[in-house]
Amino acid sequence: INPLRIAVIGGDGTGPEVVAEAVKVLKAVAQLEGIQLELREFDLGGERYLRTGEVLPEDVFQELKTFPAILLGAIGHPQVPPGILERGLLLELRFRFDQYINLRPVKLYPGVETPLAGKGPDDIDFVVVRENTEDLYAGIGGFLKKGTPDEVAIQTAIYTRKGCERCIRWAFEYTRKRNKKKRLTLVAKTNVLTYGHDLWWRTFQEVAREYPDIETDYNHVDACCMWMVKNPEHYDVIVTTNMFGDIITDLAAIIQGGMGVAAGANINPEPGGTSMFEPMGGSAPKYTGKGMINPIAAIAAAGMLLEHTGHERAAERVNKAIQIVTGTKMKSQAAGKMGYTTSQVGDLVVEALHQV
Ligand code: IPM
Ligand code: MN
Repeated sequence: INPLRIAVIGGDGTGPEVVAEAVKVLKAVAQLEGIQLELREFDLGGERYLRTGEVLPEDVFQELKTFPAILLGAIGHPQVPPGILERGLLLELRFRFDQYINLRPVKLYPGVETPLAGKGPDDIDFVVVRENTEDLYAGIGGFLKKGTPDEVAIQTAIYTRKGCERCIRWAFEYTRKRNKKKRLTLVAKTNVLTYGHDLWWRTFQEVAREYPDIETDYNHVDACCMWMVKNPEHYDVIVTTNMFGDIITDLAAIIQGGMGVAAGANINPEPGGTSMFEPMGGSAPKYTGKGMINPIAAIAAAGMLLEHTGHERAAERVNKAIQIVTGTKMKSQAAGKMGYTTSQVGDLVVEALHQV
């Protein structure tokens, strides 16, 4: 736990700007809470790829492996074709570090605007646990008769018993620890994906027997999208597959106020595992250097990092400081409409840390 070693990957576009604010807040809270920090910056992303052709060199991966936590800004560069950095870096890190949990808290902070009429912070407070290593993301498939009128593309979804069970079990444990509504909703599509999601369904039912204190619930993914907009207060914890989790967490992000505030964690819960914390937004290259992007999401990711590494008090302090800033200082959470620059928002959070 002490010192807390963090690998920092600013990444592309506005990634480094928002990560700088998260680091500012980490340093401030570490000082207040007596945490010794060891930060190391890593140069990875589109610029490095264009300069050297390297996406994730093996020696860099080995070095990252010695860190319990990575703070990541954003990946994505306009001159790099889609897929190279996403697959080669972001997904590669998730897969190789076996970060099988993608945790996305969906909480409406005070003062933050939601597009859902009549819903407030008490209604929008749930968590999505997304499986993070399998499904359509496995990258298995190919083309038949490529480039001909008879072309067929195959993209295979892989689900394993071990893969879904470890995620489902983690979600039950999390629901118990969270201790709110104690309701875990499985989101899948068992009526159509009659192999893969049958495995998820059976595993969910089986693991549920070990958690009689947790209410279980099931939604088809399409119905979940409607319900999340209409009745977000129904949800406590959602557990779902990788692809559906990707989609519903963007819906959830807009409900909680948008990319400016949405943070996520890619967790390897095993001892000695390396976990990675990131704002959900992309690299927004056209805003680079303009100080317009909201760093709250990156700061919230740093809060998740503190919580995950056992610094609960510091995490709580960061969360409270964020809420002071969104609730009493910022005009909006949207890029360029905050009433402050990226760096000023970071300063406000640091200031608020001293008030909590
Ligand atoms: C996310 C992102 C990634 C994903 C992309 C960039 C590969 O959308 O973290 O949700 O699909 O998982
Ligand atoms: Mn996504």
